[in-house]
Amino acid sequence: MEDVISEEYRVVCFCHNVMLLDLLRAIQAGADTLEKIKADTCASTGCGGCKWDVVAIIEQELKDKKYG
Ligand code: FES
Repeated sequence: MEDVISEEYRVVCFCHNVMLLDLLRAIQAGADTLEKIKADTCASTGCGGCKWDVVAIIEQELKDKKYG
């Protein structure tokens, strides 16, 4: 359980200090594309270094859970 909690607080986007938890909440709220995640969380709007990590998280979440 401890590992799950600490994983959620992992910073994915260092430019804007966006945690995995922030991304998961945005995805659950309907942000199902990179552009929507950018607009909702600012993740991947700086250097772009986290882009593929963010895309992978979106794809994994949408695959694991059916939202909507
Ligand atoms: S680390 Fe996310 S935009 Fe730079």
